[in-house]
Amino acid sequence: MNHRVDAPEQAIDFNNENSNTSANPTFDAVLGARLSRRGLLRGSVGTVGTAVLGGFGVTACGGSDDPIAEANPVPEAKLLGFGAVPKSLADTVVVPAGYTASVLFALGDPLAAGVAAYKNDGTDGDFNKRAGDHHDGMEWFGLGADGKRNDSATERGLLAINHEATTDEKLSSFFLHANGGTSTLPRPAAEVDKETDIHGIAVIEVATTAGKWGYVPTSALNFRLTALSAIEIAGPARGHAQLVTKYSTDGTRTRGTLNNCGTGKTPWGTFLTGEENWFGYFTRGATDDAARGNDKSVTSLKRYGRNQGAASRHGWETGGIDDKYQRWNNSKIGVSANGSDDYRNEMNGMGYIVEIDAYDKTRMAKKRTALGRFAHESAAFGKVEAGKPLSVYMGDDSRGEYIYKFVSTALWSTADANAADRMAVGDKYLDSGKLYVAKFNADGTGTWVELALTNTAISGYTTYSFADAADIAINTRLAADAVGATKMDRPEWNAVNPANGEIYFTLTNNSNRRIDPASGQYLPDAANPRAYTDMKGTSAQNGNPNGHLVRLKEGSSVSSFSWDVYLFGAESGADKALVNISALTADQDFSSPDGLVFSKATGICWIQTDDGAYTDVTNCMMLAAVPGQVGDGAKKTLSYTKADGSKLDIITPVGKAATESTLKRFLVGPKGCEITGLAETPDGKAIFVNIQHPGEGTAMANIGDATKYQSQWPANAGYGAGKRPRSATIVITKNDGGKIGT
Ligand code: FEO
Ligand code: CA
Ligand code: CA
Repeated sequence: MNHRVDAPEQAIDFNNENSNTSANPTFDAVLGARLSRRGLLRGSVGTVGTAVLGGFGVTACGGSDDPIAEANPVPEAKLLGFGAVPKSLADTVVVPAGYTASVLFALGDPLAAGVAAYKNDGTDGDFNKRAGDHHDGMEWFGLGADGKRNDSATERGLLAINHEATTDEKLSSFFLHANGGTSTLPRPAAEVDKETDIHGIAVIEVATTAGKWGYVPTSALNFRLTALSAIEIAGPARGHAQLVTKYSTDGTRTRGTLNNCGTGKTPWGTFLTGEENWFGYFTRGATDDAARGNDKSVTSLKRYGRNQGAASRHGWETGGIDDKYQRWNNSKIGVSANGSDDYRNEMNGMGYIVEIDAYDKTRMAKKRTALGRFAHESAAFGKVEAGKPLSVYMGDDSRGEYIYKFVSTALWSTADANAADRMAVGDKYLDSGKLYVAKFNADGTGTWVELALTNTAISGYTTYSFADAADIAINTRLAADAVGATKMDRPEWNAVNPANGEIYFTLTNNSNRRIDPASGQYLPDAANPRAYTDMKGTSAQNGNPNGHLVRLKEGSSVSSFSWDVYLFGAESGADKALVNISALTADQDFSSPDGLVFSKATGICWIQTDDGAYTDVTNCMMLAAVPGQVGDGAKKTLSYTKADGSKLDIITPVGKAATESTLKRFLVGPKGCEITGLAETPDGKAIFVNIQHPGEGTAMANIGDATKYQSQWPANAGYGAGKRPRSATIVITKNDGGKIGT
């Protein structure tokens, strides 16, 4: 997500709503009084000399080049052989010595024939034929010489890229407009049209020639989906009364995919994209609750972050009388009983995992409603085994939201892996199944609770009356509240370790954890055990400002798992008993883990950050990890003293301590960015990484004065016209031709 941490004037946070007011406890175990134990983990401190090298506008630093290593390629078994990249506040991408990072595809770059080069001065148009903004999750789809799917291709492929959002202030995506745009209502149609077009996804062809990667601007395979593209509703909610709109009076379609964050790739070769903070784009009238007769749709809207009177993030509903603008007004304004004459139900068309055939732009994308509706991040498949159901793991990124698992009804048939009609395979596995939510127990076990009307906690829920399975698919958060799911510290991406099938989740941070919670705040619990204060200059960051990662191991039944905390984000100098519990060194310390991808080629777990807490010391980064397994560490006790002097001890299973062989910083990005999304070629010799919203701390008032931009990347790396910062995909290769991260 983007978050304007340096723009306090933006009072409303459209990216991180906070609507879980359910009474279910964050954690239901009794916390026994235990002796406080200062659990110290011993970490080795590895430092390397720093060499700064020029190259393609990025800086390489770390260990000096080793001629012996170059003559004798690094054994494949040796991972993390690179020199750690130091923390950096420079306006550049820093990678280890021996690596090269190059800009590949930036905001505004053309992806269709006849589209002019990007001027980057606010006068460009045709954004539905250009790279969108805020590049996020990303997947690789190999192409053979015939331009068709080839899973073993390493030199030619498609990248499917999420374009999550845009850098904005006071309504306007100011880098996209010549003078910064209009920051009052109504918004001009021309500005709104640009802003809707830079959302969605892009599919672009990429190829390497003589070791140099580029994208193919005029490839016939390239395409965009935007916030206005027609998309099918699939699964249990298809045709449901809650999806009836003026645009789709039978509730089978909607327009657009929005705020696309994490991704997934199916075993049959399609792209999955998660719709995250979509609620903020809609407005509701000041008296809409009464207009709806205070029916259950009001309960639903509130639970998904839209109280009556809510303003929209960009004011797109004011672009004109055309239906494409009016659809952003989620108020009941029509006279029909079913909503077929207005957009009172429009928000119910957002919040899903969307399946897209990256190889075939003629196939309409489908929203897979069986996987639930929330602030979706990535969708990772568990171990794929013939004759068994498929599992898909997902997180809901808002404070105090939940972790989910979908299990298909259909059993996996290997013949489906290469079926010609990929979307039909998606129908088979993703439209029917069971959806579960996670409850974490204090003893390191957990339960997947099925969200179904057969559960009396759901059928008898007094807060919201569920009508049918579709109602659960659309109002998933309410169903999860009903069964008492565990409130987590903002579940971001998840990824499955290909070595053992264990599932890793980043929990990016949570400002609502407190030892002495006020209303709307929660006590720490075993799976979310930290509540502390970190200073950012003179500003106190409270709760769990640095985030952590949990990992799960499936149990003997579909409803059981075990878990531990894999790693805690922290500053290396922080207290090792309560904050830097993983004993991170200066080469490893990080804050706010977000993107998470396991390399199938090397097994490396790539951890990316989207931080606002440690950014006084370092820009956001990417680390390489070689994790062990659930249970490889020991239980730790975090001993807190409450305001009244009483003790609060939280006991939590923590993974084996990281060493310099198992965790190392690989990349630091330019100013104001987050690092997100990673795709690799199947040989592991090229990785693609997204630099999202460099310069997002720029004040709109400074548009036109490049000297006042927080960042001028990638222009300062020699890429493209103009000096306005641009989100971009970069490609990283190893100069000796080896696998990335070795
Ligand atoms: Fe788009 Fe939760 O990150
Ligand atoms: Ca994210
Ligand atoms: Ca700090």
